[in-house]
Amino acid sequence: METFVVDHPLVAHKLTTLRDVRTDSPTFRRLADELVTLLAYEATRDVRVSPVTVDTPLMPAEGVRLSRPAPLVVPILRAGLGMLDGMMRLLPTAEVGFLGMIRNEETLEASTYATRLPEDLSGRQCYVLDPMLATGGTLAAAIQFLFDRGAVDVTALCLLAAPEGLAYLDETFKDSGHPIRVVTAGLDERLNDVGYILPGLGDAGDRLYGVV
Ligand code: URA
Repeated sequence: METFVVDHPLVAHKLTTLRDVRTDSPTFRRLADELVTLLAYEATRDVRVSPVTVDTPLMPAEGVRLSRPAPLVVPILRAGLGMLDGMMRLLPTAEVGFLGMIRNEETLEASTYATRLPEDLSGRQCYVLDPMLATGGTLAAAIQFLFDRGAVDVTALCLLAAPEGLAYLDETFKDSGHPIRVVTAGLDERLNDVGYILPGLGDAGDRLYGVV
């Protein structure tokens, strides 16, 4: 597994404001959206393209277009939804599949409550959106779900990651034979005893959408 922590002053600036407990939900949503677009630029570095020739007003020019089948973007509901627009801004022709997962706050186990994804993901490049990579349980279950449907190439975009979550993903998929990449704006210190990332930014879903 490959982990990429995006090192850029704009990313650090936006992340700092996201962490700030005084940042209200509208500002949090806007900054998360902007931050994801910056992460998406790095996360799509290996997106598949095919050579094409276009005519400029002067002469033919060699270039590339995104290959078919289109990449699949998979936000993990609920909090991953706050990352969708920021991702689609850079990949407007991607398709979007939805995966609703919730973690039991006592056992920290993830379970799936909704899916809307193509049955066959063979040959698809998949980009999973999950803001907080904490224990790794939810993201690992989501990635396994995509592998079970034939995906071979999965990149996860996370606003923040904890070392425990990265280690869990590494261990879970070390023999899968498929490339997995995690692109994040920050690698934090550790988890607390109820599975929250420290220093973190709190509950991403609540900060995006309120406590419901
Ligand atoms: N989910 C969150 O929203 N925040 C954390 O710190 C961990 C999991």
